[in-house]
Amino acid sequence: MSSSLLILFFSLFILHLPFACNANLTKANRFRSELLPQPSLKDASITRYFEVTKPMELPKTKSCSYLILQHDFGFTFTQPPVLANYTPPLNCSSQGFSKIVLEWTATCKILRSCTAEPRATGIVWTIKKDITRYSSLLKNPQTLAVYLGNLVDQTYTGIYHVNITFHFYPAELPQNPHKQRNSNSKDAQNKEFKIPQNAYRAVLEVYVSFQIPQNAYRAVLEVYVSFHSDDAFWEVVVSLNGSVVGAIWPFTVIYTGGIYPLLWRPITGIGSFNLPSYDIEITPFLGKILDGNLHKFGFSVTNALDVWYIDANLHLWLDSNRERTEGKLIKHRNPRPQLSLVQHFMGLNGSFITSASRSLVSSGWVKSSHGKITTYSVQDFSFRNSMEMKDNFNFQIFNQTIEANNSVFAKLPSSFVYSVELMQRFPFYLYSANVDQGNGSFLSLVNLSLGFNEDRFSTASFGFSTSSLRNLQNGQVNMFGKGNLVVSALGSTQQVYAYDSNEECYSRNVSSKNYPVLYDEKREICDR
Ligand SMILES: *[C@@H]1O[C@H](CO)[C@@H](O)[C@H](O)[C@H]1NC(C)=O
Ligand SMILES: *[C@@H]1O[C@H](CO)[C@@H](O)[C@H](O)[C@H]1NC(C)=O
Ligand SMILES: *[C@@H]1O[C@H](CO)[C@@H](O)[C@H](O)[C@H]1NC(C)=O
Ligand SMILES: *[C@@H]1O[C@H](CO)[C@@H](O)[C@H](O)[C@H]1NC(C)=O
Ligand SMILES: *[C@@H]1O[C@H](CO)[C@@H](O)[C@H](O)[C@H]1NC(C)=O
Ligand SMILES: *[C@@H]1O[C@H](CO)[C@@H](O)[C@H](O)[C@H]1NC(C)=O
Ligand SMILES: *[C@@H]1O[C@H](CO)[C@@H](O)[C@H](O)[C@H]1NC(C)=O
Ligand SMILES: *[C@@H]1O[C@H](CO)[C@@H](O)[C@H](O)[C@H]1NC(C)=O
Ligand SMILES: *[C@@H]1O[C@H](CO)[C@@H](O)[C@H](O)[C@H]1NC(C)=O
Ligand SMILES: *[C@@H]1O[C@H](CO)[C@@H](O)[C@H](O)[C@H]1NC(C)=O
Repeated sequence: MSSSLLILFFSLFILHLPFACNANLTKANRFRSELLPQPSLKDASITRYFEVTKPMELPKTKSCSYLILQHDFGFTFTQPPVLANYTPPLNCSSQGFSKIVLEWTATCKILRSCTAEPRATGIVWTIKKDITRYSSLLKNPQTLAVYLGNLVDQTYTGIYHVNITFHFYPAELPQNPHKQRNSNSKDAQNKEFKIPQNAYRAVLEVYVSFQIPQNAYRAVLEVYVSFHSDDAFWEVVVSLNGSVVGAIWPFTVIYTGGIYPLLWRPITGIGSFNLPSYDIEITPFLGKILDGNLHKFGFSVTNALDVWYIDANLHLWLDSNRERTEGKLIKHRNPRPQLSLVQHFMGLNGSFITSASRSLVSSGWVKSSHGKITTYSVQDFSFRNSMEMKDNFNFQIFNQTIEANNSVFAKLPSSFVYSVELMQRFPFYLYSANVDQGNGSFLSLVNLSLGFNEDRFSTASFGFSTSSLRNLQNGQVNMFGKGNLVVSALGSTQQVYAYDSNEECYSRNVSSKNYPVLYDEKREICDR
């Protein structure tokens, strides 16, 4: 199947959406990092922060590497992003790339403290992201925009030195047919979209106008979301011409300063360095947008505190044999989400139990040179949250589970084409107690458990693939203080990551106590 990929990139900035009972959940445990006991400066080694994740599978070919940005981020908070020009590397192999990797390396050394919770002796972190799916964009010159919201003042004096490098891995020869599976985006054509500047800012809903080539036969909207407040739950709703086409109930990412900074040193929170993105199948709705006219996607965030960033890429597969494809929406169901809230309160002691569920169903056909393919898409969500508070919010238990199931099924009149099923489950538990000891001293205890579980099952005429990820972080904080000062603090984190697929397995079991790593076991063998 020869396919094409086209990408639309836009960015929105969503401000202040009112809500929420979760607002003060973590307030009691929030400390500026300068209040934390700092390790002695004798220990002058740089701390390497890391997010536990499966190492990327790389081709055996030698990569061409290309430093695309080197920048020192000083006071950048609320400033425009830093721009870098990208031109496709001409000295690399001409046979195409099987993998493109973006590598971000940043260091920060401080006098006192700075935003991503560094330490005086300096920190460094490296993130690698597979950007092969954007290869059609990278065939032409582009502008890369990088935003890092850093604050520099008398307290926060850190400057982040950042390098961004692209590594291009030429395809292995002969091509491994096995790897063909993910290469729907090959032979990409590149088109540019105008990004409406005035669509960047909004209060409740943001609209983005777009226009697509008239020979698309598949469309997937990939959405990146990040929040910058104390929210633990929110929903992104995507609409097309005013009707809801998809929703996202995102994983609660906890950044390096979240809840209690010592929990995330040097093991950082799940997703904090590499935010998960979410795909919404747009193919059933293609028939409505293939007319060559401008259409509008609307993005809204519900149940959220400010500030939110949403980025979306629209991936389109173009029919290289036809100038035009046609399509029709067959079914679209978006029943009202179910919501229930039970609360019991006596003064400041009380509990909330919130449950919500939502289901979205759509189907539609597209006629292209591949035939008349009917695509069915189903999204099912459920959410449960309980909160218990006592003693002036000094004692809190928070227990939340988000489930999101997405399935897409495509068929020709007489045969099956492909199916993808994704099941996600995100449990999050937080216990915190602040005990005033009556003599000016206090004790703070925190227990946390955060999980990212994902099962993926896909089939196509040439085979199937299945994978499962169980990624769980447990953390405990034990802190003793006097007045406003922390006298002693202990933060421990244990993480167990287990990835298992029909192609590979990877597991890691790692733990840290304050900064030192206590144990770290990695395995690449499947237990089966
Ligand atoms: C959260 O705390 C702030 C002050 O610290 C207070 O003004 C606000 O009402 C509290 N919000 C809730 C939901 O309790
Ligand atoms: C390709 O060119 C870039 C910039 O012109 C350079 O940084 C890089 O080292 C070169 N790579 C190879 C493999 O020659
Ligand atoms: C960025 O690259 C330059 C040049 O290769 C190097 O001197 C510097 O140490 C790098 N900085 C980081 C943060 O990796
Ligand atoms: C959007 O709605 C308007 C008015 O109902 C209609 O004319 C137009 O065709 C619709 N477009 C899409 C893409 O549904
Ligand atoms: C709230 O609970 C605390 C114990 O955690 C108790 O001492 C206090 O009397 C309770 N307050 C109310 C209004 O019930
Ligand atoms: C998601 O799928 C799993 C496995 O089939 C099921 O147990 C769970 O109830 C589903 N959740 C939702 C929200 O549909
Ligand atoms: C959290 O709530 C779920 C039910 O939603 C329950 O099964 C689980 O045991 C609770 N976790 C804790 C640690 O209480
Ligand atoms: C305050 O009381 C706690 C518990 O009784 C005790 O451990 C701590 O040492 C006392 N602190 C001071 C400053 O007396
Ligand atoms: C907190 O975690 C510790 C260690 O995992 C455990 O022993 C303790 O029972 C937990 N306490 C609560 C209230 O969850
Ligand atoms: C992780 O390693 C620790 C220490 O070796 C061990 O106690 C624990 O059982 C391991 N957990 C898993 C899931 O393997």
